[in-house]
Amino acid sequence: YFNGQWLEKATQNQETQNQETQNQEIQNQETQNPLSPVQLRFSDDLYSDLQQVQIVACGTSWHASLVGKYLLEQVAGIPTTVHYASEFRYAPTPLMPHTLTIGVTQSGETADTLAALEMEQERRNHHQGSPQGGDYRPRLLGITNRPESTLAHVLPNVILTPAGVEVGVAATKTFMAQLMAFYALALDLAHHRHHLPSDRLLALVSALHQLPKQMEALLRDQEEPIATLAHEFVDTHDFIFLGRGINFPIALEGALKLKEISYIHAEGYPAGEMKHGPIALLDAKVPVVAIAVPGAVYEKVLSNAQEAKARDARIIGVSTIGREADMFDDLLAVPPVDELVSPLLTVIPLQLLSYYIAALRGLDVDQPRNLAKSVTVE
Ligand code: F6R
Repeated sequence: YFNGQWLEKATQNQETQNQETQNQEIQNQETQNPLSPVQLRFSDDLYSDLQQVQIVACGTSWHASLVGKYLLEQVAGIPTTVHYASEFRYAPTPLMPHTLTIGVTQSGETADTLAALEMEQERRNHHQGSPQGGDYRPRLLGITNRPESTLAHVLPNVILTPAGVEVGVAATKTFMAQLMAFYALALDLAHHRHHLPSDRLLALVSALHQLPKQMEALLRDQEEPIATLAHEFVDTHDFIFLGRGINFPIALEGALKLKEISYIHAEGYPAGEMKHGPIALLDAKVPVVAIAVPGAVYEKVLSNAQEAKARDARIIGVSTIGREADMFDDLLAVPPVDELVSPLLTVIPLQLLSYYIAALRGLDVDQPRNLAKSVTVE
């Protein structure tokens, strides 16, 4: 199905994107209003009779997509699958009608993501219909941070995240902007499909509106303690990150940020899986970061953290201040927040912790070894 035209375009884009154009891009974005809203370019029938969503992405964008899946299923009630683009290209899901395919890539140039989307478009265009009938047309939506990217040019429907240029190789602010795009999409879909009671929808919108102030407070109160705490882990070899529900992808993202910029081995797990293997790794030398926000899985994560503590692991909690927080050896406190919007807060202490550990190890946090800003080869 796949003829690779989009990839050719991505390679040309990459060749022409020299330092000068990147500086220009930074300048352009800095002069724009930093609070400009998420920009949407949607065709009218994108949502009509939608039965499922499939998402393709790589790396950090794949983690944002896992949060997106949680939101699309729990807030908008749409079955959603998330695929590594590099896997989907060679083992696509069986064709189903009424499907929205979302490609998430901050750079808009990642080869595997573009190839997976192009393949999806072509196989749907070639499909002759099924005996059962149904709408098999391609409905493709891209989420990207770069309006001039290949993705933004080739896709008919795009959400542009206005995060400004992501200078560091390790994506941080674009990750948060991708999450915001998924909140916007899930709330919009929930509204169209009447999936959640309107008071719950309004409560979520109001929780999102409070986030900027809460983020400021978190940065003000936590940056210094986290910078101090980082000294304790400069020589650590292994870390485990645990989360559940909507914060499971944040555990994955915390582990990825730590390993890619500090070169410390780190694994993220859904907390309930710990006893199915990773618990064997635990001892006093392996710190465990547990993301525990009051809500549906709070008690469960605390009890998983307790099990880790019983194996002598040092427990670093990303949690709200409260009685239960006493069980953590170290607390990276986040403001009280609705569990459903908590990833936008819980990821911040993890980004800061990785940053300070890497800086103390004398590493270049913007240019980690062996990594490229956008991966335009397979
Ligand atoms: C990790 C990181 C990478 C990228 C991945 C996809 O911090 O930055 O894992 O997320 O290479 O890149 P995009 O989003 O440009 O497709």
